[in-house]
Amino acid sequence: MRRAYLDNNATTPLLPAVLEAMQPYFIEQFGNASSIHHHGQQTRAAVERARESVAGLLGCRASEIVFTSGGTESDNLAIFGIVQAGDHVITSAIEHHAVLNACKRLESMGCEVTYLPVDGQALVSPEDVKRALRPNTRLITIMMANNETGVIQPVNEIGAIAAEADVFFHTDAVQAAGKAPLDVKAIGCDLLSISGHKIHAQQGVGALCVRKGTLLQPMLYGGRHERARRAGTENVAGIVGLGKAAEMARAGFSNGEVAKIRELRDRLEHTVLKTIDSVGVNSAGAPRVPNTSSIYFDYIEGEALVIALDLKGVAVSTGAACSSGAIEPSHVLTAMGLSADRARASLRFSIGKQNTSEDVDLLLAILPETVARLRELSPVYNKI
Ligand SMILES: Cc1ncc(COP(=O)(O)O)c(C=O)c1O
Repeated sequence: MRRAYLDNNATTPLLPAVLEAMQPYFIEQFGNASSIHHHGQQTRAAVERARESVAGLLGCRASEIVFTSGGTESDNLAIFGIVQAGDHVITSAIEHHAVLNACKRLESMGCEVTYLPVDGQALVSPEDVKRALRPNTRLITIMMANNETGVIQPVNEIGAIAAEADVFFHTDAVQAAGKAPLDVKAIGCDLLSISGHKIHAQQGVGALCVRKGTLLQPMLYGGRHERARRAGTENVAGIVGLGKAAEMARAGFSNGEVAKIRELRDRLEHTVLKTIDSVGVNSAGAPRVPNTSSIYFDYIEGEALVIALDLKGVAVSTGAACSSGAIEPSHVLTAMGLSADRARASLRFSIGKQNTSEDVDLLLAILPETVARLRELSPVYNKI
């Protein structure tokens, strides 16, 4: 069966060039990057080259990059590395759980957390950030691009507010990397998280940019790896892959790859809106990353549509999290004002560098009939 993978915000396949870059570091160049002999020197040099590449993608110095095990660890290191009991933190209701649940933990440690609401387009208002500031505010953590809607937050404005108030600013850029130009100086953030597997590197590797002068309390205690900011022997092959993927992500803005992804996404959206009734694009009026589309198909259970499409070879996802057997409507979509029913009826389509026009054609060929068949089973749809 022909298959199309359109769930690249969940994870992306390794690009062949990334695998090729990583390969020597499994068997031939296996040294511990902390060893002083030849083997260690080889892998140390590879790690430092990768650090330069990741810094190039983020617009920061190589020394500001801390390699981690992924987006979740980067977010946790940024938050727990800065905040202490008694501090106040500002975040938003639509963050990834790597941030939201870290903030919940902060609350149980005696911190206060303000969860800012979003408007109907899922945008955080910089004015709300300003108003939420308190004398004991230590950290603002607002994501750059949302994993469900793709909405890009006004991070530059929030960064300016944070700088003026002398408060640390962290942004989770896991879903922005490679999709929107990143420049930590323009954003004005002190901390920025990325994850390898969202940009065609390996799962289980990521980075946190820690601006020079930011005193970070480490989360892991051990050796003085990563300038004493993250203990543990480096995942050399993973880091080398992240470096290569960062170079390719950066190149995507000028070699047409990002533009091609945007074209595919836009064609997908236009065709769905034209060929299927009672549908709409969530956050269509907000700035969004070019690869993501969140679309509601009223009178349909999103999970049922995901399963039906999967049976026909197309992989997409809902924004919903499945907990204890009950499908909770997405916290992102409900925060932007969607009813629980419409949130449950929403699907996320996300495109990656490996996708072709044929992948989108396959989806568009089967989607109208699949939606129609599921709606036939809906008593509400049949009444209207
Ligand atoms: C916005 C965002 N932040 C953080 C993460 C967590 O990243 P990782 O899977 O590398 O731990 C994800 C992954 O889905 C994400 O989309």
